[in-house]
Amino acid sequence: MCYAIPGKVESINEKTVTVSYFGETKKAINELHDLRPGDYIYAQGGYVIEKIPAEQAEDILQTWKEVFFDLQDLDLRLSRLDLQDKNIDPGLLRILDRALEEKPLKKEELLYLLDLKGHPEQELLFKAANFLRQKYHKNACCVHGIIEISNYCRRNCAYCGIAGHVKGLERYRMTPGEIVGASLEAIEKYGFRALVLQSGEDPGYTIKELAGVIKEIKAKAAVLIFISFGEMPEKDLVELYQAGARGLLLRFETSNPILYDKLHTGHSLESRLDTLRAARRLGYVIITGGLLGLPGQTYVDILNDLYLTKELGATMFSFGPLIPHPLTELATAPMPREKEILKVLALARFIDPQNANVVVTTGFETLSPTGRKRGLLAGANSVMLNLTPIKYRRLYSIYPNRAHEQEGIAEQVRDTVSLLQSIGRAPTDLGVT
Ligand code: 5AD
Repeated sequence: MCYAIPGKVESINEKTVTVSYFGETKKAINELHDLRPGDYIYAQGGYVIEKIPAEQAEDILQTWKEVFFDLQDLDLRLSRLDLQDKNIDPGLLRILDRALEEKPLKKEELLYLLDLKGHPEQELLFKAANFLRQKYHKNACCVHGIIEISNYCRRNCAYCGIAGHVKGLERYRMTPGEIVGASLEAIEKYGFRALVLQSGEDPGYTIKELAGVIKEIKAKAAVLIFISFGEMPEKDLVELYQAGARGLLLRFETSNPILYDKLHTGHSLESRLDTLRAARRLGYVIITGGLLGLPGQTYVDILNDLYLTKELGATMFSFGPLIPHPLTELATAPMPREKEILKVLALARFIDPQNANVVVTTGFETLSPTGRKRGLLAGANSVMLNLTPIKYRRLYSIYPNRAHEQEGIAEQVRDTVSLLQSIGRAPTDLGVT
């Protein structure tokens, strides 16, 4: 099974190529030297990942073609929107009307949406976000994999179960050989084309070692690699970029500097943003976002989080609930409700309808067993599967009882593909438009 549909290169303009997927065209950045119009490729996260032989591509496309149009059709049907309901608050209808006419919403309007209380109103908001998702992204869904390579961390974030001060947690650090092995298995056996390598801020790896791991994976397989090792100086970002990393996953956690300080003693929001900004300048694809339900966090804070994500040039918005960990300061914090998270996913879609990929986070899936499906029907278009070797997975306990903790990769892939099919989505990552 494969999580990317091959595209056909239509034209090449310096580093930008136009790729056609069953007649729909998208743009992607190309770093391959020998690419020509007519070639078949895989693209992920806006990058051309690999050229594939025409015969192989045509075979895969033939299989896909049979289901692709049925899926698109199903997606289109599920995304229909009716704004004629007389019982809905007219203020809401006016705002949604404006959004659907592609008018950017004002801050007060977005806050109004975030504060919606009534059930039919909230459901209409989710449907409108789903409509926009379908309009701009069709039925494409990014499926990325994450490998958590070490649970050592020198930081002491107040909410995090692998924070350095958490005692009694068995720590692990995968060896370079284990990381390469797990990555190649994900790529070659399961067909992943985009992988996130994540750890706590672990001084136990040198940048040279991490660069070596990335180089080795890139030398052996075609994949978009995201790094997620916490904050780092620009020179380290440069070294990992040169090794072949092209993406950075780093949440800023909250855009409110006072709240940030409270939760991250001795660290500043500005230094976190420095890493994100430097990465963006260097050409990394950015995934960022924040935690929802932090004590003292307001809707204004959350809206500012969404604006900041856009300002940082993120191609993916990653927003998930705080899940209290019993061994942290926030042990007794209340968990946010499913609807609150769905509203934020929907708002992300409203704020950047065309460019945003919005991911349903594992945190949300942990909060709610229906979270993945509901999120994908409320503006989200992306999921991340956990590919960490099972024996380590429970030790990466940023919060307790994480969704999919016991599920092998094959099982997660099967469930994901069947969920996507049930709502008419195809695991195509068509990249930037
Ligand atoms: N609940 C939810 N998410 C958490 N993270 C850390 N601790 C928790 C928690 N208790 C998230 C942070 C971090 C990411 C790797 O995990 O947002 O950036």
